[in-house]
Amino acid sequence: MIRKGILLAGGAGTRLHPATLASSKQLLPVYDKPMIYYPLSTLMLAGIQDILVISTPEDLPQFRRLLGNGQRFGVRFAYAEQPRPEGIAQAFLIGREWIAGQACALALGDNLVFADHLSSMLRTAAARSFGATVFAYRVRDPERYGVVSFDDSGRAVEIVEKPALPHSNWAVTGLYFYDHRVSEFAARIRPSARGELEITDLNRLYLEDGSLHVERLGRGCAWLDAGTPDSLLQAANFVQTIQARQGMLVGCPEEVAFRMGFIDREALLREAQALGKTELGRILTELAEGIHD
Ligand code: DAU
Repeated sequence: MIRKGILLAGGAGTRLHPATLASSKQLLPVYDKPMIYYPLSTLMLAGIQDILVISTPEDLPQFRRLLGNGQRFGVRFAYAEQPRPEGIAQAFLIGREWIAGQACALALGDNLVFADHLSSMLRTAAARSFGATVFAYRVRDPERYGVVSFDDSGRAVEIVEKPALPHSNWAVTGLYFYDHRVSEFAARIRPSARGELEITDLNRLYLEDGSLHVERLGRGCAWLDAGTPDSLLQAANFVQTIQARQGMLVGCPEEVAFRMGFIDREALLREAQALGKTELGRILTELAEGIHD
């Protein structure tokens, strides 16, 4: 069972300048919540309660201010700095002592996933004691992502970072589950041509090991990264539409904490009240009072 997870929220957010000149990208709002709440909720839905938040030395204090020790979400946060953006896979070297030879998940702080049956998919990935699990999503512009291709029997055969000529349309999303070997595998990776420890190289080590599971996210799923003005707006519109139309919350750690049994009804009510007169506070109060199922 994977019980630990890293939330990676560093980087310079240059594609969002000037919005990110004085603030971390992952703290910008996606509709009604800070961006980091969405991948945080995803890790929590996977049953993960020990979470290491990694960000830049400048931005880490803001994350501490927002998230604290985690008690109000029924989780435990630890914090670590990434001095320079030297690659996503570096998270497992920075977090090596904290991981302490155990299995560990990773969620990119700017990735949002929304799917039918998401929690059962996440639980399956978290329950796998050997190998790695990644999620693939069909996109129109695979050259922007890590791309995985499959053979005729549907087995993953190749994984490439930002290929000029992609062999498939399946992008690898920013949510990864790894077994206890992850830090050891990460230590074997060398910087790529762009000078980064690539997460795709880590995934390739698992692929070569024969233990990479690739789950394809189908039609009922939305995967968004909020790294550009357009994708940030799209993500906000998406969350607003679902919440307004269905009355369901997206990416709300207080709600997930309650549903997962990490906090009880009284604690949820306290959190709802702390949100004052916001719509989010109102919905959480109704949830705590048993008005919603
Ligand atoms: O979004 C999924 C994609 O994320 C994957 O398909 C790719 O395989 C993976 O390389 C990554 O691609 P990006 O080009 O989107 O990565 P980016 O450099 O934008 O980093 C993603 C997030 O991780 C971003 O919010 C900043 C953070 N980050 C990134 C690096 C390289 C860090 O915190 N530290 C880093 O060193």
